[in-house]
Amino acid sequence: MHHFHYSGRDLHCESVDLAAVAKLYGTPTYVYSAGTMADNYRRLQRGLEGLDAQLCYAMKANSNLAVLRHFANLGAGFDLVSGGEIRRVIAAGADVKSSVFAGVGKTEPEIRLALENGIFSFHVESEPELGRINHVAGKLGLKAPIAIRVNPDVDAKTHAKITTGKSDNKFGIPLQQAAAAYEAAAKYPHLAIKGVQMHIGSQLTSVTPFVEAVEKVAPFAADLKARFGITYFSIGGGMGIIYRDALASGQPAWWEAQPAETRPLTPESYGAAMVPLLQPLGLKVLLEHGRFMVGNAGILLAKVEHLKRGAGKNFLVVDAAMNDLVRPAMYESFHEIVPLHRDSSRRALTADIVGPICESGDCFAKDRQIQEVGEGELIAFMSAGAYGYTMASRYNTRAMPAEVLVKGSAFELVNARESFEQMIAGERVPAFLN
Ligand code: LLP
Repeated sequence: MHHFHYSGRDLHCESVDLAAVAKLYGTPTYVYSAGTMADNYRRLQRGLEGLDAQLCYAMKANSNLAVLRHFANLGAGFDLVSGGEIRRVIAAGADVKSSVFAGVGKTEPEIRLALENGIFSFHVESEPELGRINHVAGKLGLKAPIAIRVNPDVDAKTHAKITTGKSDNKFGIPLQQAAAAYEAAAKYPHLAIKGVQMHIGSQLTSVTPFVEAVEKVAPFAADLKARFGITYFSIGGGMGIIYRDALASGQPAWWEAQPAETRPLTPESYGAAMVPLLQPLGLKVLLEHGRFMVGNAGILLAKVEHLKRGAGKNFLVVDAAMNDLVRPAMYESFHEIVPLHRDSSRRALTADIVGPICESGDCFAKDRQIQEVGEGELIAFMSAGAYGYTMASRYNTRAMPAEVLVKGSAFELVNARESFEQMIAGERVPAFLN
């Protein structure tokens, strides 16, 4: 469920007419619904009732300071992966103390920054990393809290670029070697063993791989509790969202009309499967969902530049491009694309929906059916709240887009569109070229 809907003929976010947002702040602009994020958070919490569960929101999905603050206010900690993300949490006025630090290549300065700010735990991906964290903690005269990421070798059946829990991925330590890694960790004087972690991939649409992975790791977690007194089990993130029919999926009736077995993965079905498997362990459960929390809570607003009618092919050229939303170019991912002003008297148009960037990969959708829209009209890319802005770039010297947060009838610019001067601020022509 989400809070993007047509009121009359015009697409709204909560009570805000999105055309008004575009008029004020221009396009391309990301718009986020605070209400949808809060609903997602609460649904997940309710789904996990019976567990001592804590969400560490995977902020790589959307790390705008306003979004971070909103989740912190709701009670979330963060799953962070860089020194930059640590500093974002602090800049948002949130607490690093309920956050976990993941990633296969944490640098010494990043480890130090995390320790100085009281990180809840490091999620360690390899044996050399244990030594490095121990070394930095030793220099600070601290004991670093750690959990080892185990790789359960489960096929998440998702896109190859975002699957992580197979033995041929670079992530974690194979379950068979994990006991030895914990033995090694226990010998380091500046490490404190706190938990165990896994994450099998992103955009999972079935609960089965989650069940399979938890069933594989749970006995090991129980052993670690007995041997080392671990207190938590992080089961990672990865819950998928609905990209097709994204607009319809905001409506409860659509949802309920689906036969139970084809209903998409929900926090309710996820919780129902997870709670009985995890409850007997008596451990705190950490969750690291990113996409589920924000994916359907954001859209990208864009404007039509031209409708170019080619020989046997139409192209709708819009002012957003692969630099603003790279997911279709990078993962062949589907985003629903809708007009802001719906007019049933218009003809349907079949077109490739493309950006202005000089490569054919700059294509959002091929042969997509959309109501005919012309120059200057506004469209929305649905389900763009996760891995949208955070993966955007300046390719073709296009500025980073603006971001707006909506709550009820209020909306505010939470990130101004980048200026040309900001884009080139760090660049210099060296004297030897003069
Ligand atoms: N925990 C760990 C250790 C992760 O590596 C990730 C995501 C998450 C949690 C959060 O996963 P989520 O709940 O968002 O599925 N850029 C890609 C997704 C990359 C995911 C990377 N790791 C996309 O746009 O589909």
